[in-house]
Amino acid sequence: MKYKIAMLPGDGIGKDVMEAAQIVLNALELDAEYVYGDIGWEFWKKEGNPLPERTIELLKETDCALFGAITSKPKKEAEEELPEYLRGKVEYFSPIVKLRQLFDLYANVRPCKAYEGNPLNYRDNIDLVIFRENTQGLYSGVEFYPVPEEVRKALEIHPNMQKFKDVPSDEMAISLRIFTRKGCHRIVKKAFDYAKENNRKSVTVVEKPNVIRETSGMMIEEARKLAPKYKGIEYMEANIDAMAMWLIKNPERYDVLVSSNMFGDIISDLAAQLVGGLGFACGGNIGDDYAIFEPVHGSAPKYAGKYVVNPIAMLRSVKMMLDWLGEKKLAGRLENGIAKTIKEGKVRTYDMGGNASTLEMAEEIIKNMD
Ligand code: NAI
Ligand code: MG
Repeated sequence: MKYKIAMLPGDGIGKDVMEAAQIVLNALELDAEYVYGDIGWEFWKKEGNPLPERTIELLKETDCALFGAITSKPKKEAEEELPEYLRGKVEYFSPIVKLRQLFDLYANVRPCKAYEGNPLNYRDNIDLVIFRENTQGLYSGVEFYPVPEEVRKALEIHPNMQKFKDVPSDEMAISLRIFTRKGCHRIVKKAFDYAKENNRKSVTVVEKPNVIRETSGMMIEEARKLAPKYKGIEYMEANIDAMAMWLIKNPERYDVLVSSNMFGDIISDLAAQLVGGLGFACGGNIGDDYAIFEPVHGSAPKYAGKYVVNPIAMLRSVKMMLDWLGEKKLAGRLENGIAKTIKEGKVRTYDMGGNASTLEMAEEIIKNMD
Protein backbone atom coordinates (compact mmCIF):
# COMPACT_ATOMS: atom_id res chain seq x y z
CA MET A 1 0.00 0.00 0.00
CA LYS A 2 1.15 3.49 -0.83
CA TYR A 3 -0.25 5.18 2.28
CA LYS A 4 -1.20 4.41 5.85
CA ILE A 5 -3.92 6.73 7.10
CA ALA A 6 -5.16 7.07 10.68
CA MET A 7 -8.93 7.37 11.05
CA LEU A 8 -10.07 9.00 14.31
CA PRO A 9 -13.89 9.19 14.34
CA GLY A 10 -14.19 10.46 17.92
CA ASP A 11 -17.65 11.13 19.34
CA GLY A 12 -21.18 11.85 18.16
CA ILE A 13 -21.52 12.87 14.53
CA GLY A 14 -17.75 12.48 14.20
CA LYS A 15 -18.59 8.80 13.66
CA ASP A 16 -21.37 9.52 11.15
CA VAL A 17 -19.22 11.72 8.94
CA MET A 18 -16.20 9.42 9.24
CA GLU A 19 -18.31 6.65 7.75
CA ALA A 20 -19.13 8.92 4.83
CA ALA A 21 -15.41 9.66 4.42
CA GLN A 22 -14.52 5.97 4.36
CA ILE A 23 -17.17 5.18 1.73
CA VAL A 24 -15.87 7.97 -0.49
CA LEU A 25 -12.22 6.99 -0.04
CA ASN A 26 -13.10 3.42 -0.95
CA ALA A 27 -14.92 4.60 -4.07
CA LEU A 28 -11.88 6.68 -5.07
CA GLU A 29 -9.72 3.56 -4.65
CA LEU A 30 -6.95 5.47 -2.95
CA ASP A 31 -4.07 3.05 -2.45
CA ALA A 32 -4.16 3.17 1.34
CA GLU A 33 -4.49 1.16 4.49
CA TYR A 34 -6.82 2.71 7.07
CA VAL A 35 -6.17 2.22 10.76
CA TYR A 36 -8.79 3.29 13.27
CA GLY A 37 -7.75 4.99 16.51
CA ASP A 38 -9.35 5.78 19.87
CA ILE A 39 -9.97 9.39 20.79
CA GLY A 40 -12.53 11.47 22.64
CA TRP A 41 -15.04 11.54 25.45
CA GLU A 42 -15.75 7.82 25.50
CA PHE A 43 -12.10 7.15 26.33
CA TRP A 44 -11.99 9.93 28.88
CA LYS A 45 -14.91 8.28 30.68
CA LYS A 46 -13.43 4.79 30.50
CA GLU A 47 -9.73 5.45 30.95
CA GLY A 48 -9.42 9.01 32.19
CA ASN A 49 -7.57 9.90 28.99
CA PRO A 50 -9.25 11.32 25.85
CA LEU A 51 -6.07 10.70 23.86
CA PRO A 52 -4.64 7.30 24.87
CA GLU A 53 -0.92 6.75 24.38
CA ARG A 54 -1.66 3.92 21.88
CA THR A 55 -3.36 6.47 19.62
CA ILE A 56 -0.30 8.72 19.60
CA GLU A 57 1.86 5.69 18.75
CA LEU A 58 -0.55 4.76 15.97
CA LEU A 59 -0.38 8.24 14.47
CA LYS A 60 3.42 8.07 14.42
CA GLU A 61 3.19 5.09 12.08
CA THR A 62 0.93 6.82 9.60
CA ASP A 63 1.32 9.38 6.81
CA CYS A 64 -1.51 11.58 8.03
CA ALA A 65 -4.81 11.42 9.88
CA LEU A 66 -8.47 12.14 9.37
CA PHE A 67 -10.32 13.26 12.48
CA GLY A 68 -14.08 13.44 13.07
CA ALA A 69 -15.05 15.41 16.15
CA ILE A 70 -14.99 15.02 19.90
CA THR A 71 -17.21 15.98 22.79
CA SER A 72 -15.67 18.02 25.55
CA LYS A 73 -17.16 19.43 28.73
CA PRO A 74 -16.17 21.91 31.41
CA LYS A 75 -13.88 20.76 34.19
CA LYS A 76 -16.49 19.96 36.82
CA GLU A 77 -18.76 17.95 34.51
CA ALA A 78 -15.76 16.12 33.10
CA GLU A 79 -14.76 15.06 36.59
CA GLU A 80 -18.29 13.89 37.43
CA GLU A 81 -18.47 11.52 34.49
CA LEU A 82 -15.35 9.64 35.56
CA PRO A 83 -15.56 6.32 37.41
CA GLU A 84 -14.95 6.64 41.16
CA TYR A 85 -11.39 5.26 41.09
CA LEU A 86 -10.20 7.85 38.56
CA ARG A 87 -11.71 10.95 40.17
CA GLY A 88 -9.20 13.52 41.33
CA LYS A 89 -6.39 11.57 39.65
CA VAL A 90 -6.66 12.83 36.06
CA GLU A 91 -7.43 16.11 34.36
CA TYR A 92 -9.32 16.61 31.10
CA PHE A 93 -7.51 18.21 28.15
CA SER A 94 -8.49 18.79 24.54
CA PRO A 95 -7.03 15.93 22.48
CA ILE A 96 -7.03 17.86 19.22
CA VAL A 97 -5.23 20.83 20.76
CA LYS A 98 -2.73 18.35 22.25
CA LEU A 99 -2.20 16.69 18.86
CA ARG A 100 -1.56 20.05 17.19
CA GLN A 101 1.17 20.73 19.76
CA LEU A 102 2.60 17.20 19.77
CA PHE A 103 3.05 17.01 16.00
CA ASP A 104 3.83 20.72 15.62
CA LEU A 105 0.93 21.21 13.21
CA TYR A 106 1.44 24.93 13.05
CA ALA A 107 -0.86 25.82 10.18
CA ASN A 108 -4.60 25.53 10.53
CA VAL A 109 -5.87 25.86 6.98
CA ARG A 110 -9.54 26.57 6.40
CA PRO A 111 -10.83 27.06 2.85
CA CYS A 112 -14.21 28.80 2.56
CA LYS A 113 -15.71 28.61 -0.89
CA ALA A 114 -19.19 29.46 -2.15
CA TYR A 115 -20.27 26.53 -4.28
CA GLU A 116 -22.62 27.35 -7.14
CA GLY A 117 -26.17 26.46 -6.18
CA ASN A 118 -25.64 26.32 -2.42
CA PRO A 119 -28.82 27.87 -0.98
CA LEU A 120 -26.86 28.85 2.13
CA ASN A 121 -24.36 31.10 0.34
CA TYR A 122 -24.26 34.65 1.59
CA ARG A 123 -23.00 35.72 -1.83
CA ASP A 124 -21.48 34.00 -4.86
CA ASN A 125 -17.83 34.26 -5.87
CA ILE A 126 -16.49 33.95 -2.34
CA ASP A 127 -13.36 31.85 -2.34
CA LEU A 128 -11.21 32.40 0.72
CA VAL A 129 -8.46 30.31 2.28
CA ILE A 130 -7.57 31.15 5.85
CA PHE A 131 -4.21 30.28 7.39
CA ARG A 132 -4.44 30.40 11.15
CA GLU A 133 -1.35 29.98 13.32
CA ASN A 134 -2.08 26.89 15.36
CA THR A 135 0.45 26.50 18.16
CA GLN A 136 1.08 29.81 19.90
CA GLY A 137 -0.47 33.26 20.40
CA LEU A 138 -3.31 33.58 22.89
CA TYR A 139 -3.82 29.80 22.82
CA SER A 140 -0.31 29.06 24.10
CA GLY A 141 -1.92 28.03 27.36
CA VAL A 142 0.33 30.24 29.49
CA GLU A 143 -2.22 31.64 31.89
CA PHE A 144 -2.34 32.74 35.51
CA TYR A 145 -5.12 32.85 38.03
CA PRO A 146 -4.70 33.90 40.75
CA VAL A 147 -1.62 35.75 39.58
CA PRO A 148 1.46 34.55 41.52
CA GLU A 149 3.51 37.17 43.32
CA GLU A 150 6.64 36.39 41.24
CA VAL A 151 4.74 37.03 38.04
CA ARG A 152 3.40 40.34 39.34
CA LYS A 153 6.89 41.37 40.40
CA ALA A 154 8.41 40.48 37.06
CA LEU A 155 5.73 42.41 35.17
CA GLU A 156 6.30 45.54 37.24
CA ILE A 157 9.21 46.45 35.02
CA HIS A 158 6.55 47.55 32.54
CA PRO A 159 5.27 51.08 33.33
CA ASN A 160 1.70 50.25 32.25
CA MET A 161 1.45 47.69 35.05
CA GLN A 162 1.18 50.64 37.42
CA LYS A 163 -2.55 50.85 36.87
CA PHE A 164 -3.06 47.30 38.17
CA LYS A 165 -0.92 47.87 41.25
CA ASP A 166 -3.79 47.85 43.72
CA VAL A 167 -5.75 44.94 42.23
CA PRO A 168 -5.65 41.84 44.47
CA SER A 169 -4.08 38.76 42.85
CA ASP A 170 -7.32 36.82 42.94
CA GLU A 171 -9.16 39.67 41.23
CA MET A 172 -6.88 39.51 38.23
CA ALA A 173 -6.22 36.97 35.47
CA ILE A 174 -3.49 36.92 32.85
CA SER A 175 -3.43 35.02 29.54
CA LEU A 176 -0.25 35.56 27.59
CA ARG A 177 -0.14 36.22 23.86
CA ILE A 178 3.20 34.76 22.88
CA PHE A 179 4.52 35.03 19.32
CA THR A 180 7.92 33.88 18.13
CA ARG A 181 9.65 35.17 15.03
CA LYS A 182 9.94 31.63 13.74
CA GLY A 183 6.21 31.10 14.39
CA CYS A 184 5.29 34.26 12.49
CA HIS A 185 7.63 33.50 9.62
CA ARG A 186 6.49 29.94 9.02
CA ILE A 187 2.75 30.63 9.04
CA VAL A 188 3.08 33.59 6.66
CA LYS A 189 5.40 31.59 4.43
CA LYS A 190 2.92 28.71 4.35
CA ALA A 191 0.22 31.14 3.20
CA PHE A 192 2.41 32.64 0.47
CA ASP A 193 3.61 29.24 -0.73
CA TYR A 194 0.02 28.07 -0.94
CA ALA A 195 -0.95 31.22 -2.88
CA LYS A 196 1.88 30.63 -5.32
CA GLU A 197 1.19 26.94 -5.87
CA ASN A 198 -2.53 27.52 -6.34
CA ASN A 199 -2.40 30.64 -8.51
CA ARG A 200 -4.05 32.80 -5.88
CA LYS A 201 -4.24 36.55 -6.38
CA SER A 202 -3.48 37.98 -2.97
CA VAL A 203 -2.35 37.36 0.60
CA THR A 204 -3.73 39.54 3.40
CA VAL A 205 -2.23 39.57 6.88
CA VAL A 206 -4.96 40.16 9.45
CA GLU A 207 -3.63 41.52 12.76
CA LYS A 208 -3.82 44.65 14.90
CA PRO A 209 -0.31 46.13 14.96
CA ASN A 210 -1.43 49.65 15.79
CA VAL A 211 -2.58 48.48 19.24
CA ILE A 212 -0.96 45.12 19.94
CA ARG A 213 2.34 46.50 18.80
CA GLU A 214 4.85 43.83 19.71
CA THR A 215 3.14 40.58 18.74
CA SER A 216 1.02 41.72 15.79
CA GLY A 217 3.94 43.97 14.86
CA MET A 218 6.25 40.97 14.62
CA MET A 219 3.84 39.14 12.34
CA ILE A 220 3.60 42.15 10.02
CA GLU A 221 7.37 42.56 10.01
CA GLU A 222 7.89 38.96 8.92
CA ALA A 223 5.16 39.28 6.28
CA ARG A 224 6.74 42.40 4.80
CA LYS A 225 10.05 40.57 4.51
CA LEU A 226 8.45 37.67 2.66
CA ALA A 227 6.01 39.52 0.41
CA PRO A 228 8.54 40.84 -2.16
CA LYS A 229 9.74 37.28 -2.78
CA TYR A 230 6.35 36.35 -4.22
CA LYS A 231 6.07 38.29 -7.45
CA GLY A 232 2.59 38.56 -8.88
CA ILE A 233 0.82 37.95 -5.56
CA GLU A 234 -0.69 41.11 -4.16
CA TYR A 235 0.16 41.71 -0.51
CA MET A 236 -2.30 43.45 1.81
CA GLU A 237 -2.62 44.18 5.52
CA ALA A 238 -5.86 44.60 7.45
CA ASN A 239 -6.83 45.04 11.07
CA ILE A 240 -8.88 42.22 12.56
CA ASP A 241 -11.82 44.45 13.52
CA ALA A 242 -11.96 46.10 10.10
CA MET A 243 -11.67 42.68 8.47
CA ALA A 244 -14.83 41.51 10.23
CA MET A 245 -16.62 44.33 8.41
CA TRP A 246 -14.87 43.87 5.10
CA LEU A 247 -15.69 40.18 4.98
CA ILE A 248 -19.37 41.08 5.18
CA LYS A 249 -19.17 44.06 2.87
CA ASN A 250 -16.82 42.84 0.19
CA PRO A 251 -15.70 39.22 0.70
CA GLU A 252 -14.93 38.78 -3.02
CA ARG A 253 -12.03 41.21 -2.68
CA TYR A 254 -10.01 38.77 -0.56
CA ASP A 255 -8.25 35.54 -1.31
CA VAL A 256 -5.68 34.04 1.08
CA LEU A 257 -5.84 35.40 4.64
CA VAL A 258 -3.23 34.75 7.30
CA SER A 259 -3.52 35.45 11.00
CA SER A 260 -2.55 34.45 14.51
CA ASN A 261 -4.32 31.79 16.56
CA MET A 262 -7.18 33.74 18.15
CA PHE A 263 -7.88 36.19 15.32
CA GLY A 264 -7.64 33.39 12.79
CA ASP A 265 -10.14 31.35 14.78
CA ILE A 266 -12.62 34.22 14.71
CA ILE A 267 -12.35 35.23 11.05
CA SER A 268 -12.46 31.62 9.91
CA ASP A 269 -15.78 31.11 11.70
CA LEU A 270 -17.08 34.31 10.14
CA ALA A 271 -15.88 33.25 6.69
CA ALA A 272 -17.34 29.76 7.10
CA GLN A 273 -20.77 31.21 7.75
CA LEU A 274 -20.59 33.18 4.48
CA VAL A 275 -20.52 29.94 2.51
CA GLY A 276 -22.92 27.65 4.31
CA GLY A 277 -21.72 27.27 7.87
CA LEU A 278 -20.65 24.19 9.77
CA GLY A 279 -21.96 21.70 7.24
CA PHE A 280 -19.38 23.01 4.76
CA ALA A 281 -16.43 24.17 6.87
CA CYS A 282 -13.37 21.97 6.43
CA GLY A 283 -9.90 22.24 7.82
CA GLY A 284 -6.40 20.87 7.96
CA ASN A 285 -3.83 21.03 10.74
CA ILE A 286 -0.64 21.00 8.77
CA GLY A 287 2.98 20.79 9.87
CA ASP A 288 6.16 20.21 7.91
CA ASP A 289 5.85 16.43 7.86
CA TYR A 290 2.49 15.44 9.31
CA ALA A 291 -1.08 16.64 8.98
CA ILE A 292 -4.50 16.00 10.50
CA PHE A 293 -7.60 16.88 8.52
CA GLU A 294 -10.95 17.56 10.20
CA PRO A 295 -14.26 19.29 9.72
CA VAL A 296 -14.59 22.45 11.81
CA HIS A 297 -17.81 21.30 13.50
CA GLY A 298 -18.05 19.45 16.79
CA SER A 299 -19.81 16.23 17.81
CA ALA A 300 -23.37 17.73 17.71
CA PRO A 301 -24.69 15.29 20.35
CA LYS A 302 -28.34 15.76 19.43
CA TYR A 303 -27.70 14.35 15.95
CA ALA A 304 -25.28 11.61 17.02
CA GLY A 305 -25.81 8.34 15.19
CA LYS A 306 -28.83 9.69 13.33
CA TYR A 307 -26.95 10.13 10.05
CA VAL A 308 -28.65 13.40 9.22
CA VAL A 309 -25.78 15.90 9.27
CA ASN A 310 -24.05 17.22 6.19
CA PRO A 311 -20.94 15.19 5.27
CA ILE A 312 -19.59 17.93 2.98
CA ALA A 313 -17.45 19.55 5.71
CA MET A 314 -15.78 16.17 6.24
CA LEU A 315 -15.54 15.32 2.55
CA ARG A 316 -13.93 18.66 1.76
CA SER A 317 -11.41 17.80 4.50
CA VAL A 318 -10.81 14.50 2.70
CA LYS A 319 -10.22 16.50 -0.47
CA MET A 320 -7.64 18.62 1.36
CA MET A 321 -5.96 15.44 2.55
CA LEU A 322 -5.75 14.06 -0.98
CA ASP A 323 -4.21 17.34 -2.16
CA TRP A 324 -1.69 17.25 0.68
CA LEU A 325 -0.75 13.66 -0.22
CA GLY A 326 -0.17 14.83 -3.80
CA GLU A 327 -3.15 12.86 -5.15
CA LYS A 328 -4.33 15.81 -7.24
CA LYS A 329 -6.35 13.70 -9.64
CA LEU A 330 -8.39 12.01 -6.91
CA ALA A 331 -8.79 15.35 -5.13
CA GLY A 332 -10.12 16.84 -8.34
CA ARG A 333 -12.62 14.03 -8.81
CA LEU A 334 -13.92 14.44 -5.28
CA GLU A 335 -14.13 18.20 -5.74
CA ASN A 336 -16.17 17.68 -8.93
CA GLY A 337 -18.51 15.31 -7.12
CA ILE A 338 -19.11 17.81 -4.34
CA ALA A 339 -19.59 20.75 -6.71
CA LYS A 340 -21.98 18.87 -9.00
CA THR A 341 -24.05 17.52 -6.11
CA ILE A 342 -24.48 21.00 -4.65
CA LYS A 343 -25.23 22.54 -8.04
CA GLU A 344 -27.89 19.96 -8.97
CA GLY A 345 -29.45 20.23 -5.51
CA LYS A 346 -31.31 16.92 -5.86
CA VAL A 347 -29.86 15.40 -2.71
CA ARG A 348 -29.61 17.73 0.26
CA THR A 349 -29.20 17.29 4.00
CA TYR A 350 -31.44 19.17 6.45
CA ASP A 351 -29.17 22.20 6.78
CA MET A 352 -29.59 22.83 3.03
CA GLY A 353 -33.35 22.44 3.26
CA GLY A 354 -33.52 18.78 2.24
CA ASN A 355 -34.05 15.49 4.04
CA ALA A 356 -31.34 13.25 2.63
CA SER A 357 -29.18 11.30 5.05
CA THR A 358 -25.45 11.72 5.58
CA LEU A 359 -24.71 8.56 3.61
CA GLU A 360 -27.17 9.30 0.80
CA MET A 361 -25.36 12.56 0.29
CA ALA A 362 -22.01 10.73 0.22
CA GLU A 363 -23.37 8.23 -2.33
CA GLU A 364 -24.64 11.06 -4.54
CA ILE A 365 -21.21 12.72 -4.41
CA ILE A 366 -19.61 9.43 -5.45
CA LYS A 367 -22.06 9.14 -8.36
CA ASN A 368 -21.17 12.66 -9.47
CA MET A 369 -17.39 12.24 -9.22
CA ASP A 370 -16.77 11.21 -12.81
P1 NAI B 1 -21.28 21.51 17.01
O1 NAI B 1 -20.42 21.94 15.90
O2 NAI B 1 -21.12 20.12 17.45
O3 NAI B 1 -22.81 21.68 16.58
C1 NAI B 1 -23.52 22.88 16.62
C2 NAI B 1 -24.72 22.79 15.67
O4 NAI B 1 -24.27 23.02 14.35
C3 NAI B 1 -25.37 21.43 15.61
O5 NAI B 1 -26.33 21.25 16.62
C4 NAI B 1 -25.99 21.45 14.25
O6 NAI B 1 -27.18 22.17 14.27
C5 NAI B 1 -24.96 22.22 13.45
N1 NAI B 1 -24.02 21.33 12.74
C6 NAI B 1 -22.79 20.94 13.14
N2 NAI B 1 -22.22 20.14 12.24
C7 NAI B 1 -23.11 20.02 11.23
C8 NAI B 1 -23.10 19.32 9.98
N3 NAI B 1 -22.06 18.57 9.58
N4 NAI B 1 -24.20 19.40 9.21
C9 NAI B 1 -25.24 20.13 9.58
N5 NAI B 1 -25.32 20.82 10.71
C10 NAI B 1 -24.25 20.77 11.54
O7 NAI B 1 -21.04 22.52 18.21
P2 NAI B 1 -21.55 22.48 19.73
O8 NAI B 1 -22.96 22.02 19.78
O9 NAI B 1 -21.21 23.79 20.28
O10 NAI B 1 -20.65 21.40 20.47
C11 NAI B 1 -20.97 20.04 20.66
C12 NAI B 1 -19.76 19.31 21.20
O11 NAI B 1 -18.72 19.33 20.24
C13 NAI B 1 -19.20 19.96 22.47
O12 NAI B 1 -18.84 18.94 23.38
C14 NAI B 1 -17.99 20.72 21.98
O13 NAI B 1 -17.01 20.84 22.97
C15 NAI B 1 -17.53 19.83 20.84
N6 NAI B 1 -16.74 20.49 19.78
C16 NAI B 1 -15.73 19.77 19.23
C17 NAI B 1 -14.99 20.27 18.18
C18 NAI B 1 -13.97 19.38 17.58
O14 NAI B 1 -14.00 18.19 17.78
N7 NAI B 1 -13.05 19.90 16.81
C19 NAI B 1 -15.24 21.60 17.64
C20 NAI B 1 -16.38 22.27 18.22
C21 NAI B 1 -17.08 21.74 19.27
MG1 MG C 1 -13.57 28.04 16.30
